[in-house]
Amino acid sequence: MPDALPPDGLLADLSALLGPAGLLTDAADIAPALSDWRGLYQGRAMAVLRPASTDQVAACVKLCVAAGVPIVPQGGNTSMVGGATPSEDGRAVILSLARMNRIRALDPVDMTMTAEAGVVLKIAQDAAADCGCLFPLSLGAEGTATIGGVLSTNAGGNTTVRYGNARDLMLGLEVVLPDGQVWNGLRRLRKDNTGYALRHLFVGAEGTLGIVTAATLRMFARPRANEVLFCSVRDEDAALSVFRRFRETDETAIRAFEYMSGVGVDFAVKHIPGVTLPVAERADHYILVDLASTRADADLQGLAEQVLGAAMEEGEVIDAVVGGSEAKRTAIWRIREEHPEAQRKEGASVKNDVSVPVSKVPELIRRASAACVALIPGTRPVPFGHMGDGNIHMNLEQPVDMDPAAFLARSHDIMDTVNEVVRELDGSFSAEHGIGRLKTDMMESWRGGAELSTMQRIKSALDPAGLMNPGKVLP
Ligand code: FAD
Ligand code: MLT
Ligand code: ZN
Repeated sequence: MPDALPPDGLLADLSALLGPAGLLTDAADIAPALSDWRGLYQGRAMAVLRPASTDQVAACVKLCVAAGVPIVPQGGNTSMVGGATPSEDGRAVILSLARMNRIRALDPVDMTMTAEAGVVLKIAQDAAADCGCLFPLSLGAEGTATIGGVLSTNAGGNTTVRYGNARDLMLGLEVVLPDGQVWNGLRRLRKDNTGYALRHLFVGAEGTLGIVTAATLRMFARPRANEVLFCSVRDEDAALSVFRRFRETDETAIRAFEYMSGVGVDFAVKHIPGVTLPVAERADHYILVDLASTRADADLQGLAEQVLGAAMEEGEVIDAVVGGSEAKRTAIWRIREEHPEAQRKEGASVKNDVSVPVSKVPELIRRASAACVALIPGTRPVPFGHMGDGNIHMNLEQPVDMDPAAFLARSHDIMDTVNEVVRELDGSFSAEHGIGRLKTDMMESWRGGAELSTMQRIKSALDPAGLMNPGKVLP
């Protein structure tokens, strides 16, 4: 049964609109939508609405707004910041986009795809590949995260260094506004300067300004040559230096440049079946380099040998493995992609999704790690992530002998400790995961003044009743 009593007639109206497949009210059916991937929050909701069309989304919004019921949009529910989890008061409905999962159009000449919000990212990638193109957004949750979710969080992931964030891959949007109007902005133009770029307002808004129902996305030429390298490196500075060497030799070839700590790779080898260390000896620092070219005859192995040879001579690279086959490339990527899951299996961890100018990444890793160990002796720093774009997941794993709950009780102290270093290095406290519920209390201190008050005025103008994903993003 639903948790809070719905306003008179609302569920009956929603049921008439959506039918049995479109409205879930049974506690067992709605349970999976009430908590987040990290297990940080346990919300409650009256119902999960599963509209199958834009018109149904609009009608749901009108009914809920008339009844004063908050709406929490949900895609794949892989948010790292509790963005898609309702509050505990049970007043809200969750609006799932799962049934809006059609790819409406694919055009390999214009290099565009129009996909509904509930299309899973991996399905969008596959659809692009099927027509000889590439949709380049790639992240560990790509088998579950949706187009609506990645746009609403402006997700980054592994290929930002080459293709940008989700925002950069979006040409047009279709949005149901908080008053139930449908805005059809599904234009597929590369140039369109016609007033305020409204579409960008909804990217990264985390569902607080309306519901994204479809998007027109940019596709790219499909790489015809690919190579993946896994290297142990001397230290964080050496990792940065290797990145610079690749950039200076052939910037266009870098598709991803990821950093991993020795501890993080140890966890992946320990907890994830089939993951093994590809180099001969354990090290404290590793990098993964993904090289890709649209030229079938590109000599990526030659490029790798040239750069790694020079880096080895300088003592930056200790050992290196070149994938050489599709299976080995996939195996190398798994070591990196399984970091979040391996960390979860090792015990309680505190995540810090932060960014700094690329040049400051080594200093960030060293200083934030030392500060957190000083704060809680025995804490195990597990920094990893998208070094090529300056986004490091400055995560901390609990000390081996500490009670997980006691460690998590210190989460805010740990985040503050990391953020102090991030601030000194001109960075951001949220690089790619967004604000969600987890970081709303940091907004005042980081974005207060003109920036936050402008955001608040935009929110009030579009959603005066404050019913779109309340409690998220803004304090
Ligand atoms: P949800 O979690 O369902 O929702 C996320 C937010 O968007 C919520 O605020 C929700 O209300 C809102 N929302 C969802 N759909 C809509 C819509 N149609 N209209 C309006 N608002 C909407 N993120 C990265 O950026 N880079 C990574 O490398 C990365 N790796 C990850 C690895 C793992 C293992 C996991 C679990 C997560 C990872 N994430 C990463 C975080 C997460 O996958 C992304 O934030 C993703 O964009 C969320 O997509 P989703 O469909 O699951 O959205
Ligand atoms: C990733 O890049 O794997 C995730 O964004 C990081 C995380 O789990 O902290
Ligand atoms: Zn990431």
